[in-house]
Amino acid sequence: MATSYLATSALPYANGPIHMGHLVEYIQTDIWVRFKKMMGESALHMCADDAHGTPIMLSAKARGMTPEELIKDIHHQHESDLRAFGVDFDDYYTTHSEENKVLASDIYLKAKEKGAIYTKVIEQAYCNSCAMFLPDRFIKGTCPKCGEADQYGDNCERCSGSYATKDLVTPYCVSCKEAPITKESEHHFFAVSKYEETIKTWLDTIKVTDAIKNKLDEWFKDGLRDWDISRDAPYFGFEIPGEENKFFYVWLDAPVGYIATTQHYCEKNGLNVNDIWKDGDTEIHHFIGKDILYFHTLFWPAMLDVSGYKLPSKVNVHGFLTIGGKKMSKSRGTFITARTYLDHLSPEYLRYYYASKLTGGIDDIDFSFEDFVNKVNADIVNKVVNIGSRLGAILAKKCGGKLTSPNEEGVELLNSIRRDIKSADTAYDTLNTHEAMRVIISLAERVNKYVDEQEPWAKVKVSQDEAAAICTTGLNALLMLSVYLSPVLPQLTDGVFNFLNCENYSRADIETTIEDHPINPYVHLAQRVKLEDAQKIQN
Ligand code: 2FM
Ligand code: ZN
Repeated sequence: MATSYLATSALPYANGPIHMGHLVEYIQTDIWVRFKKMMGESALHMCADDAHGTPIMLSAKARGMTPEELIKDIHHQHESDLRAFGVDFDDYYTTHSEENKVLASDIYLKAKEKGAIYTKVIEQAYCNSCAMFLPDRFIKGTCPKCGEADQYGDNCERCSGSYATKDLVTPYCVSCKEAPITKESEHHFFAVSKYEETIKTWLDTIKVTDAIKNKLDEWFKDGLRDWDISRDAPYFGFEIPGEENKFFYVWLDAPVGYIATTQHYCEKNGLNVNDIWKDGDTEIHHFIGKDILYFHTLFWPAMLDVSGYKLPSKVNVHGFLTIGGKKMSKSRGTFITARTYLDHLSPEYLRYYYASKLTGGIDDIDFSFEDFVNKVNADIVNKVVNIGSRLGAILAKKCGGKLTSPNEEGVELLNSIRRDIKSADTAYDTLNTHEAMRVIISLAERVNKYVDEQEPWAKVKVSQDEAAAICTTGLNALLMLSVYLSPVLPQLTDGVFNFLNCENYSRADIETTIEDHPINPYVHLAQRVKLEDAQKIQN
């Protein structure tokens, strides 16, 4: 089958752990890709570590490692954390690869050939004792507005004032505390402004939400800025072809990593990357946070266009994660890593929680401990799992462990679910998983209501056949709900499919009722979460 969709999640920097904020996006992308597969389509999910740049170079130095050693360690951690959350990448690579070097250089040379690259001498802060140019976040000083000491580059934590880094009073280098000087150097620029029309035409075709459109309109109104794509040595990255001691800025080769990762995947699978990124019908869908919109909607399409690639079909943008209504913070104990979460709680619960919060828009989503515990217990444990545990026990203990046929009300119920559950398709496809979960959980309520009214535990005392028919209905309903929950809860729903002896049941099967079919003994599918256990992830 031809690949129809290629999804990418933003590449995490290779100098820190995956945390709950990152997971919003990886889980969102994974759910969408699994949904596409559930619909019988072919979809790939590509991601990689974003391995270059000054912060990674300095982090490695601070840990007494080479950058190559650091990024190798982190790559391993990132990939295992993400996979533990059920994020099923088709490839998880690194931007520090030979493929990426060749592709990034090729894109740059094509841009140069087309007159899109020019050089200009600029002034920058330079630390003599570290012998390097300092990016803004490596300079601190006293706030020019309120006089608070030790404030970062461009805004003050105390008075929230914003200013230019050069206006900091008594600036100093974060690494060695010396005062930086101003030094000139020649930089390479990408003339993004030349591509304004191409970018605008493309944006019209990819249907962005109104919130995104407004942001983009603002940027166009201010005028597109050409992009400084070079950095001077010392820098951990790829050297610019034909230049000495000049490197690509990390953001130049980072998105190229999407293509390089696809190439890595294609080479392992006998495919040709150009059939995805240059020709063919595969739609490329990027998933990003709102902070990196500029790169993905202005710089990236210009780079792709100038070098002969096709442009993405969709850029999906989500908001940030807050915890208890506030930004994640180390001092409040809410900078929660993926690893810490996994030490205490089931990854599937976070997948469900995020799914129930995400609407496809750019609003921030909040993680609240009480809400998390309530949602998981009320929806997953009490409504979904409850169907299996109640009916599985009756069927196994009293009715021979075999599905029979639904009764008349049962047929009606199953048909109503078949009809109504499909409204989750559009919800999933448009990333409104909040709505998809609402639909599915309301159908689980309908099933529980049917079971409560039919009272199979009482009927079994009178007629095993009647009780078995009720259980057959409820368990068939659970199968349908499980197919629809499988993009969000792959592990739990695999448990349901095993229990019901229907490992190959898929969306195509929901039109059919499973009858006259032995099932396996019920094995508990999900544990209730206690608030005090959930709170253990705070540190
Ligand atoms: O903002 C970030 O975390 C970047 N590392 C994302 C890169 S996405 C892509 F363009 F490579
Ligand atoms: Zn210094």
